[in-house]
Order: sequence, then C-alpha cells, then structure tokens
Amino acid sequence: FKTLDDADVTGKRVLLRVDLNVPMKDGVVTDKTRIERVLPTIREISEKGGRVVLLAHFGRPKGKPNADMSLAPVAPVLAEMLGQPVGFADDCVGPVAAGIVSALKDGNVVLLENTRFHEGEEKNAPDFVDALASLGDVYVNDAFSAAHRAHASTEGLAHHLPSYAGRTMQAELEALEKGLGNPERPVVAVVGGAKVSSKIDLLQNLVSRVDALVIGGGMANTFLAAQGISVGKSLCEHDLADTARAIVEAAKAAGCAIVLPVDAVIAREFKAGAASETVDVHAVPDDAMILDAGPKSVETVNQWLDKAKTLVWNGPLGAFEIQPFDKATVAAARHAAELTRAGKLVSVAGGGDTVAALNQAGAAADFSYVSTAGGAFLEWMEGKPLPGVEVLKA
Ligand code: 3PG
Repeated sequence: FKTLDDADVTGKRVLLRVDLNVPMKDGVVTDKTRIERVLPTIREISEKGGRVVLLAHFGRPKGKPNADMSLAPVAPVLAEMLGQPVGFADDCVGPVAAGIVSALKDGNVVLLENTRFHEGEEKNAPDFVDALASLGDVYVNDAFSAAHRAHASTEGLAHHLPSYAGRTMQAELEALEKGLGNPERPVVAVVGGAKVSSKIDLLQNLVSRVDALVIGGGMANTFLAAQGISVGKSLCEHDLADTARAIVEAAKAAGCAIVLPVDAVIAREFKAGAASETVDVHAVPDDAMILDAGPKSVETVNQWLDKAKTLVWNGPLGAFEIQPFDKATVAAARHAAELTRAGKLVSVAGGGDTVAALNQAGAAADFSYVSTAGGAFLEWMEGKPLPGVEVLKA
C-alpha cells in the first residue's frame, strides 16, 4: 500500500479518515489515546501545506443525527493537543461542509460531524461516497481500528480518490506483520476475556499459527469444564464444551501447546475486596467462582514468555477491573514488558479491554506495540481481511 511518502498533499484538500470514537462522559473525553495516535498524520499533512478535512464516526447513531453522538466536543480537545485551531462543520456533507472546506487555507484543519449521522455511511452508498469525495482531492486512511468496516469513509472513498495509509495505519500494519504475519518464533499468543463464544474464530486461527496459546480469563473455565474439571459457579459456557475440545485437538495436530490455568483465585462473590483464596483448579468448591489465575499459572505463562521471541496478547487473564483479581494479568503483563524492554521479545497487544489492562499494569509503554483497535484487532487476529486495509493495497 502507498503511504504519505508517496502522496502529494501540498495545496490539496485531504480527506483524512481517523478514529475519534473515544470514551466520553457528559461531553468530556475521558481517554485521549486515540486522539494522540492521529496527531502525527494530521501534523505531517498540515506541515506539508495540505488542507486537512477530518472524517470520523462516533458511537452507533444508526444513520440519524443524534446530539449525544456529536463529534463537536472532540474538536477543541484535538485543537489543544495539536496546538493549532481545528474548525468544525456540523454536517459531513452538503452545503455546510462544502462551505467550510472551500474556505480552508493550506495547513488548516477542520473536523466534520459524525459520518454515521447519514445512512449512506454504513451502507457504503454510492451517492454518499460521491458527496464525501467531492470534498477532497486525496484520501488518507489513518483509522486501522475502523478498518474492519466496509463503510463509505473507511472503504468506499478509496475507490474514488488517490488513497494512502496514514502514519498510524502504517505503524499498526507493520506491528501486526511482526506479530503474526511474519513473526520470529517461537510465538506465544495470550487470549483472555470472558467468553469463548466471542473468540472461537480467533482461537481456531491461532492454533495453526502460534507455538503456544495461553487461554485465560472466564473463557479458560469453559476449557477446564470441557476436560471434566468442576468449575463451581464460575462463568462457563457449558454448551461450548465440544468446541473447546475441538480447538484443543486442532492445537495438538498443529503442534501448538495449549496453556490453561493450573490454579485459580476463587471467591464467593464478584465484588471488589471479596474474600478470596487460591486453590488447585481441581479443587474449586461448588459454591465458589474462579476470578483470576493463580501464581503457579502465572509462573507457567511467564516461562512460556521467557522462551518466546514474539507475543500477541488479547484479553485479560482474570477479572482485572476488580481488585484483587487483577494479579495474574498484571504479573504476566509486567513480565512481558520487562522482556520487551530487554530486547528479548516483540510484544503486540490490542483489542477491547486489553489496553486498559496493560495500562493498569503500567506495562503498555514497554510493549512493542499496543493497538487501540478493538474489533479490527480481533478480526485481524482471526486472519480475516480488513476491507479498509485491503482497498489500500488494491
Ligand atoms: C471501535 O471503537 O472499535 C471502532 O471505532 C469501530 O467502532 P464500531 O464497532 O462501532 O464500528
């Protein structure tokens, strides 16, 4: 795919797709990570004299304007972080957008209102794509985290305008290539989170691609139960026992080690500070639930990390958002961070809760790459082509 190195943006109107789908509470942005990630590309285009027209979605307004999902509160935050004014147009197409865009001078930046206020965005409708395309001369996509969507602003536009990957998209794809595309072996994957059901495709894809697959979090309970181990009142998808066994069989056939917890931190209730104890996974009482992996399990995970050259991580090993059930996630994340800092491991992480878990462990900064993508990271780990990336390669 082409990058900003190949693009001539000077004096051009550059439609720059970014992901500003940031956590917000009462109109205040509560986590600026995604905004930070798009700054380099905006700066580079602006410094080269491009007129930056930012396209982004926010929430899922289902094709209709919705005051609660306006991008207006993001513009001043972006302006402050960027250190230059950012205009705002309260529609992403039509006369309002056209007027603001035509008034831009070289180097100016404007943010257009939520693309999902129009039905044509998610439908990738030709007339909507045309309307967006009329606002730009060049298209740059810097929103890897929305690249699993074949929407007008993430995919359609690339068929109409000269198209390039932004710097964050580029960094993301390079990191992912190192993680699973063409990794140094051995490769260890750590997959956690609550449910097997949301990660079946992921697990099936990984067993044929990695040397060891560490399964943690609530989903590990389903694997333990499938082996006939009693997990008490733990979160467990008993109906997926056959699926879990099939994944273990596929792993064996592919020479991939499956690493499951051998001990567990259990409690009778799921709340902060609940009385807890550590038991062997074979000794979980009927009235208790598993809320974290125990120290022996962490030791095993860390030994696998010591042997690995590459780590891909998605999902926490326990109920990390509630103390004291964050210990396994924190300990393994810190160990991976140390190995990375020492130059012994390439570590790539992403998806949903993962960034929050690594931040909580103070480990994120030392990882080789932490993706801010949720669904897109997962689909990439599942081996699925991402429409927003594929179209840039075409
Ligand atoms: C995300 O937050 O993962 C991306 O912005 C995509 O959002 P979506 O799941 O609503 O398409």
